[in-house]
Amino acid sequence: MKALIIGNGGREHALAWKIEQSPHVKKVFIAPGNGGTALEEKIENIDIDSNDIDQLVLFAKKEAIDLTIIGPEVPLSNGIVDTFIENNLKVFGPKKLAAQLESSKDFSKLFMERHKIPTAKYKTFTNARDAHKYINKEGAPIVIKADGLAAGKGVVVAMTIDEAITATDSMLEDNLFGDAGARVIIEEFLTGEEVSFIVICDGNSILPLESSQDHKRLLNFDQGPNTGGMGAYSPAPIVTSKLHHKIMNEVIVPTIEGMKKDGIEFTGFLYAGLMIDNNNQIKTLEFNCRMGDPETQPILFRLKSDLFEILLAAANKKIQNYKAEWDEGSAITVVIAAKDYPNQPKINDEIFNLSHAQKDSYIFHAGTSLRNEKIYTSGGRVLGVTAKGKSLKDAQEQVYALINKIKFNGMQYRTDIGQKEIKKNREKS
Ligand code: AMP
Ligand code: GLY
Repeated sequence: MKALIIGNGGREHALAWKIEQSPHVKKVFIAPGNGGTALEEKIENIDIDSNDIDQLVLFAKKEAIDLTIIGPEVPLSNGIVDTFIENNLKVFGPKKLAAQLESSKDFSKLFMERHKIPTAKYKTFTNARDAHKYINKEGAPIVIKADGLAAGKGVVVAMTIDEAITATDSMLEDNLFGDAGARVIIEEFLTGEEVSFIVICDGNSILPLESSQDHKRLLNFDQGPNTGGMGAYSPAPIVTSKLHHKIMNEVIVPTIEGMKKDGIEFTGFLYAGLMIDNNNQIKTLEFNCRMGDPETQPILFRLKSDLFEILLAAANKKIQNYKAEWDEGSAITVVIAAKDYPNQPKINDEIFNLSHAQKDSYIFHAGTSLRNEKIYTSGGRVLGVTAKGKSLKDAQEQVYALINKIKFNGMQYRTDIGQKEIKKNREKS
């Protein structure tokens, strides 16, 4: 069979790499892909933008694609799944209405309120004066969020009232995020440990993937600005089987059931970004309606089951009898970013020494391109170097040994991915 993956990041390289291993799959296309997918033997890059829905439909028809898998949120929020289904093409992902769980934070907060899914206290504003009043009343720290999609940059955790007011004004008055920031959510500041909990859903049944933990800040010790994610590991040991069940009962099942009650079927990856406090109380920070990046890389690196078979079954509403098998140990991904990421990343630098990955490691590409048999940087997050081992420490040692060999001008990465967890020493608890 033939599969088509939409997107060009590290998440999509990992999806294509995993799908390509299925014995059912003869060929994987990726639109548009990156330098890493261009180097893969059974994967072919197709030069169509991931937001060009009409061209993607034409391509899928021409090639008689058996399953299309959507990586990023923007085409999902623009209704790519609806259009594929209208054209009788098999696709895995949520329709536009369901994708609002991610594309509108106001929609998602109202939804959580309606269905009693635990989340931070909040209010929505379109008027700066009213927002200022609320901020002054609530005090800092406080969290300001643009309603719409803002590529991970629409959330400001303000430690002072001034910072909160500046962030609110940049969205409501100065239109920093355009329409996405014409409405802001002002939210209670939560403390605890963050977890990414992702499931596959076929509209009815739910197949949970293993847990993971992202590292959102640019610099070591969780300093510096928020990014799309600088590294992740799986599993997240805080998610014991007891907490797993609690997350399913309090967040995931009520979400899928709540969508059904609202007349919206959710098919696709559902990603709950969770904050777990010291008493193991759960609050939902956000929903995404896709896999995480970089969480996908360590999660899929541990998945033993055939992902293509599972996603095809999900697209056919038949995952109730599927279970996922996992490697026992841990996997870790460290993102190598370009100079000046996350602002204006420098691009077009040649990358050297990419060929050292062994059996238990892999270099997933993100912002790279292939020209004349050389790989160049082409985006902010460049590589997701991934390794697995018996323990997180083991995986971490391998990943940094591999990174030490890779070179390009201005490369930056965190040297502490997984370190906080290793210090806690609770892997087997
Ligand atoms: P979001 O896109 O809503 O997940 O927010 C991005 C990041 O901002 C999260 O991963 C958290 O690190 C942080 N964040 C979001 N909401 C809150 C909150 N209510 N309290 C504390 N930190 C938050
Ligand atoms: N790594 C966070 C995200 O994919 O949204």
